[in-house]
Amino acid sequence: MDMPKVLPAKQKITYLGHAGFMIETDHELILMDPWLSDTGAYAMAWFQYPCNHHLADVVRHKVEETDKVVIVYISHEHQDHFDETFLCSLPESKVMLMLPNFTRDFFYKKFISWEGGQYFFEDNGRFGLRDGYLEFYIYDSIREADSAVLFHHPNFNFLNMNDCHIYDRVTDIKERNGNIDVLTGHFSGASWFPTCYDYDNKIRIQKSKRNKYARFSTLCKLIANIKPRRYVPSAGPACFLDPNLFHLNFEDESIFPHASEFYDFWLKWKGDLSATKFDYRNPGDKLFYTSPKTPPTKDNRTLKKELTEYQDRVFQTRLPNADWKNIKIALTMNLQEKLDNFPLASRLPKLLFLTEPGILSCGVIVDFVNGEIREDCVDWTLPLPENCYVIMARHSSWNTLLNITWDGRLTWYEWLLSFRLTIKRNPDEFDPLLDGFLVNEAEDLRAFCEHYKERQTDETILIHTDTKTYRVSRRCPHESGDLSNGWMNDQGHLVCPKHSWSFDLENGGRCVEHPSFSINAEVQDV
Ligand code: FES
Repeated sequence: MDMPKVLPAKQKITYLGHAGFMIETDHELILMDPWLSDTGAYAMAWFQYPCNHHLADVVRHKVEETDKVVIVYISHEHQDHFDETFLCSLPESKVMLMLPNFTRDFFYKKFISWEGGQYFFEDNGRFGLRDGYLEFYIYDSIREADSAVLFHHPNFNFLNMNDCHIYDRVTDIKERNGNIDVLTGHFSGASWFPTCYDYDNKIRIQKSKRNKYARFSTLCKLIANIKPRRYVPSAGPACFLDPNLFHLNFEDESIFPHASEFYDFWLKWKGDLSATKFDYRNPGDKLFYTSPKTPPTKDNRTLKKELTEYQDRVFQTRLPNADWKNIKIALTMNLQEKLDNFPLASRLPKLLFLTEPGILSCGVIVDFVNGEIREDCVDWTLPLPENCYVIMARHSSWNTLLNITWDGRLTWYEWLLSFRLTIKRNPDEFDPLLDGFLVNEAEDLRAFCEHYKERQTDETILIHTDTKTYRVSRRCPHESGDLSNGWMNDQGHLVCPKHSWSFDLENGGRCVEHPSFSINAEVQDV
């Protein structure tokens, strides 16, 4: 048994499934991102895999019965981390909430009067425990707001990154707090790209693969540097039980790989991972009380049987139908509010269509050039006009989802994560401003634009390769990742530590994945 000598036997860390953990010390009971309800997330698009619903009663009972201080940490707003139904089923007066102090005040508004009290932590903030502390890390670009947490007990560190992009900060965290005993965090994706894009299969596979392997190698690189004693895969992938999304569970290549795919990659990776044990856990398993486990190999036939039973057990089409006419009115008002709060609208592409399903697909259009919103149609079979971005329903839940969006039960970001849409764009290039316009709520767009302007800096750094030295922009054009913490990959490209975009220095610093972006690499004489 590989029990750490430094963690007394009474103290337990239990994996709750997805990004959830429960830590029991002598004096505290700490829950991290407990997503345990059986209603899934994002209008029942995502469900926990493996299923962990049986733990909801177990954990609730523990909270009800304990004399310890109960702390619930929520890393961010996304429903696969913030399970409001489960949280509200806990005895409110007994639970103290630990919440990130993001620019967006969603948590503040929601929990201002929470009976058990709430602690809004800042980046690098610490909260003292009887023996040890919790230390928090925030990543907040408005567009993406997430956090990570370190549980420190004397001589023991458990770093839970969940799906927060703090890869470039973990060295500092280790220096400040000591060796990391357990590192846990995501190895799979959580985005509608490329899953929801109108690509032919070959292109989709290519883009998924690139995305998947970039994430795998970033994580391996991090683990080789940090040398935690164990890596516990967590925070995904979820499974998809909606019959319209069910096929996503079985794609040969996607950004939702199972842990066994990451483990295979780990075994073949060229760097040295020998200091770390890969430790796959099922919901309910305790870390350290059994030997590290390797993940079961993904077998589509068995998986299909398992997920079909899971689907029969929990998935219900409970979403009400909505009237498209009313939706169009609400959609127009919402988009107008967005436009009014987006001072950088003149820099956006010409047209954004949001349409109903159909070959001749009709809906609402944002005309950024003329600053107006109107109704129009787009012929899905024809090439799109230039500078045009279209989001079309993948099936009939479009209306319902829009309705939910306006009811405030899903944000735009969450609606996109529901995957019930298809996106087509010309040019086929990521546009950070359009992305910001789409994913943020109207009330957050001014802050987003300010943040976007602030991160446009002229700062440069020198990158030394074996043969040359290059001067390049310090900040990544995607979301301002600090390239001074980047590294060269096997292809000789500079990799951004945040989301793994890579840049070809030989080719002027052009981004390999998104060629319209560059970090303007110039060879230097040194
Ligand atoms: S900030 Fe996202 S890849 Fe660089």
